Amino acid sequence: MTKYVAVAGKGGVGKTTFITLMLRQIIREKEISILAVDADPNANLNETLGITVTSTISEVLEENKNIKASQDETSKASFFNRLDQCLLKTPGFDFLTMGAPQGFGCYCYPNNILRMYLETLGNNYDFVIIDSEAGMEHISRLTIPHIDIMFVVSDSSGRGIRSAGRVHDLIRGLQADVDKIYLIVTHTVENSLKSLADEIAQTGLQLIGDIPLDDLIFQQDIIGKPLFDLPDKAISLQAVDKILRQAGVGGRFSDSK
Ligand SMILES: Nc1ncnc2c1ncn2[C@@H]1O[C@H](COP(=O)(O)OP(=O)(O)OP(=O)(O)O)[C@@H](O)[C@H]1O
Ligand SMILES: [Mg+2]
Repeated sequence: MTKYVAVAGKGGVGKTTFITLMLRQIIREKEISILAVDADPNANLNETLGITVTSTISEVLEENKNIKASQDETSKASFFNRLDQCLLKTPGFDFLTMGAPQGFGCYCYPNNILRMYLETLGNNYDFVIIDSEAGMEHISRLTIPHIDIMFVVSDSSGRGIRSAGRVHDLIRGLQADVDKIYLIVTHTVENSLKSLADEIAQTGLQLIGDIPLDDLIFQQDIIGKPLFDLPDKAISLQAVDKILRQAGVGGRFSDSK
């Protein structure tokens, strides 16, 4: 069974960073098939992964916005073919970019086809890992209907944690079917978790771990190298590894496919 893993949380807290480091850790651990999806309209996961994107799902949706349920099978097949062209293959995982939202008009039918396409595509993989934007558009529109693990990410501020609490409420209020929800606190320094303990408790979220403020992340950015190539010694990588083990991703989790 395919496992769907996604992130949520307010802007700039470290969601894309976590997804990038998670991908890096999972692919080196086992022979597993992974589809990584950038569902952020302001797509930048490709950059942290060092991938060049040629076309996005939104562009294909825009090209096919006039497709109707009554249309012949050939047009539907060509729509599917175009969607397939958005799928990039890398040695460790396949990669799909959803892209910026479409213009005005009714996209119900193409969106239904997209939903079907993503479901069928997802079945080919052990893991589908989704970088969602702060507004969780695709999750609330149910383009992505099922999530096995949702990591709600917060930075080390009280405001960040309270926002994570609201995201938690939002997820529970959605129709989306989310199995496990965990909190990750990023940019931590000594005593961050201790001073945030009360705020964290109030969110009702289970804290699965933290990712310390890592100077190597800044340095990687400054020298213009993809975050994906962060050196092994990075404290952030070790922290992500611990979180994944804690969540059962890569160990027990991937064994249960
Ligand atoms: N543990 C960390 N240590 C140091 N810098 C970090 C850490 N985590 C993230 N950053 C930095 O914080 C910034 C925001 O991170 P990131 O892009 O991952 O956030 P995001 O939640 O995906 O943002 P958005 O909502 O805009 O997509 C980036 O410049 C990133 O390099
Ligand atoms: Mg991001």
